[in-house]
Amino acid sequence: MTAGTFGPAASLAADRQPYTPAWVYLLRCADGSLYAGWTNDLARRLHAHRTGAGGAKYTKSHGKEAVQLAYAEACPDKPAALRREAALKKLPKADKEALAADWAARSRLTVRMATPEDAADVVALYNWYVTHGTQTFQYEPSTGEEYRQNIAEVLEKAPFLVACTADGRLAGYACAHPWHTRRAFAWDVETTVYCAPDVVGQGTGRKLYTALLELLQRQGYYNAFALITRPNPQSDAFHRALGFTRYGVEKNSGYKFGRWLDLGYWACPLNPPADPPAPVRQQLGAEEIAEVLGRVNGV
Ligand SMILES: CC(C)(COP(=O)(O)OP(=O)(O)OC[C@H]1O[C@@H](n2cnc3c(N)ncnc32)[C@H](O)[C@@H]1OP(=O)(O)O)[C@@H](O)C(=O)NCCC(=O)NCCS
Repeated sequence: MTAGTFGPAASLAADRQPYTPAWVYLLRCADGSLYAGWTNDLARRLHAHRTGAGGAKYTKSHGKEAVQLAYAEACPDKPAALRREAALKKLPKADKEALAADWAARSRLTVRMATPEDAADVVALYNWYVTHGTQTFQYEPSTGEEYRQNIAEVLEKAPFLVACTADGRLAGYACAHPWHTRRAFAWDVETTVYCAPDVVGQGTGRKLYTALLELLQRQGYYNAFALITRPNPQSDAFHRALGFTRYGVEKNSGYKFGRWLDLGYWACPLNPPADPPAPVRQQLGAEEIAEVLGRVNGV
């Protein structure tokens, strides 16, 4: 992988900017046609196209449920995105197809088990959220060495997955830690997922969590818990879509970037509880892992 660096430098809460101020995109509709649009929030816009709630008339009448992202390009601001959208709309179909084919080749994802050598990229991605966002309550960036140890420790008991693009970038990671240390909690894990800020909303998180939850389920874990700082509507929607339910909210649980934030508690049952429960398998066989990852990677 190429070493990860992400976007604008950290700044104060008051002047924090979104990672990507604007996007232009192409959507592949159910009938194969390509729709061009612009947005300042790609993930929310894609969801709107698919559900029809605020999506464009064109995608509504061309099989909205099957709409797939076919191309995404970051723009410096809204005027630039509007100009680029107008240019995309005018492109002959063959040129749009060429853009989509190139984008698909570059952004094709492979999900695999992490190794400690992935630590530098993983920590660069995570630290972007530490210094720019409230998705994590952590104030100070982590070090590569901490993440080398973290990856090695996680892999002793649970998966630590990375999703990499064909051109070698880290698109995201997901992992699971013990929920508590006492023995009665041995069947519970806390899951974590972070995608690079320029790929959110493009399916990376779904691939990672689909693989993570199936591997955890096969290991014999019973519950996956997730702690989601609030507000984080994207992560709320994501966890709900992947089978989690929110069962509690801790009010004013943390203070970061000049405001108090709540903490949402989410749970996803992985296996029906047996009595007595079989011990968790700390390691799955290589073949079993390859089977799950192969399915997610479409091979
Ligand atoms: C939360 C996060 C991991 C989700 O990953 P993602 O790659 O952006 O999400 P995906 O594109 O795979 O979306 C999967 C599903 O989640 C839901 N979803 C994701 N973003 C959404 C949004 N903005 N609005 C509504 N639903 C959304 C949709 O149901 C989507 O299903 P679909 O693909 O059928 O439309 C990612 O956005 C991220 O890293 N965010 C910043 C860091 C963070 O908040 N991490 C979690 C800490 S608890």
